[in-house]
Amino acid sequence: MTASLEEVAYKLAAGGKGLLAADESASTIKKRFDAIGVESTFENRRDYREMLFRSEAMTQYISGVILFDETIRQKAQDGTPLVSLIEAAGSIPGIKVDLGAQPQPGCPGETITEGLDGLAGRFKEYYDLGARFAKWRAVIDIGQHIPSYTSILANAQALARYAALAQAAGIVPIVEPEVLMDGDHDIDRCYDVTEWVLKEVFQQLFYGRVKLEGMVLKPNMVIAGRKAQKQASVEEVAAKTVRCLKNCVPSAVPSVAFLSGGQSDEEATAHLDAMIRGGGLPWNLTFSYGRALQAAPQKAWSGKPENIVAGQAAFTHRSRMNYLAALGQWTPESEQQKAA
Ligand code: 13P
Repeated sequence: MTASLEEVAYKLAAGGKGLLAADESASTIKKRFDAIGVESTFENRRDYREMLFRSEAMTQYISGVILFDETIRQKAQDGTPLVSLIEAAGSIPGIKVDLGAQPQPGCPGETITEGLDGLAGRFKEYYDLGARFAKWRAVIDIGQHIPSYTSILANAQALARYAALAQAAGIVPIVEPEVLMDGDHDIDRCYDVTEWVLKEVFQQLFYGRVKLEGMVLKPNMVIAGRKAQKQASVEEVAAKTVRCLKNCVPSAVPSVAFLSGGQSDEEATAHLDAMIRGGGLPWNLTFSYGRALQAAPQKAWSGKPENIVAGQAAFTHRSRMNYLAALGQWTPESEQQKAA
C-alpha cells in the first residue's frame, strides 16, 4: 500500500527520529571533501554515502535521507541501489529538486532559487526511483538593506509552486526557507526576518493550494549571526525560535525539521533539546541536519576504507545525540556515551 502524503509527512518527525541531509551538490560535497583531503570522485562520493547508509544510525535514529540527483541513481559497491539500502533500514528516501540559488535581478546581494521548469516531469521520475519526499531551499540573507520584499515574495512563490507540484506527484514537500546566520546581526533581527519570511511563505502556500497536513517545514532557528558580538544563550535561542514558529506556522503542519545552518554539532543538538523540553508544541519538532550530522563522520572517515567503522560510529553517535534531543532527553553528559 502506498503511504499517503499525511503519513509520510508525519513519520519524518515522529518518535525522536530526524532527517539526514546528504544532498550536497557537486560543488558543496567537493568543499567538504577538500577539507578532509579526499578527492571528490564518483566512487568516493558513493563510498562515503554508502558508509552512512549502512550504519546503525539508519535503523534507529534516521527517519529519512535527502539525496542529490547523482546519489538517488547510484549503486553500492555490491550493486545494491543506495535507495534500497535506505529503504531496508526502514528509512525514507527523499530528493533535493531545486537547482540552486542564483543572483536575483534588481536585488543586489539577494538570490532566487531556480528549478521550476520541467519539475512535474522530474518528480515523476524521482517517484519511480523511490523518492517519497523532496526538498527545495530558498536562501534569505540578512544585510544592511536586505532582505527586500521583492526577494522574499519571489522565493515564497517558488516554494509554493514547488510544494504544489510535489504533492500532485504524491511526494511530500519539505519547504525550506533558510534565513542565513552568516552576518553580524543580533538574534532579534533574525527573529524579525524569520517571522517576515515565514508569514509570506505560509501566505503563498495558501494561495498555491498546498495541503499543510502533507508537508514538512524546514526552518532556520532564530539565532544571532555568526559574526555578532553578542551570541544568545541556548535558552534564548530555544524560546525565541518557538515563539517565532508559534506566530507563523499553523498547527496543521505535522512536522518541523530544522537545518543546522553552520551551528556547531553540539549547539544544534542543545538548541533542539531545549525547545522540546519547553513543551507545549503543536507540531513534532526534529532535526534535518547536513553539517551538524556529517562533520564528525567525515573527519573520522577521511576517505580511508580502514576508517569506515569509525566513520559509522561517529555518524551513529551524532544521530543518537539528536534523537535524544528530539525527545528532550539530551544532556551535555550524553556526549560522553560511546556510540552503541
Ligand atoms: P545544514 O544542516 O548543513 O544547514 O544543511 C541542511 C540542509 O539541507 C540545507 O539545505
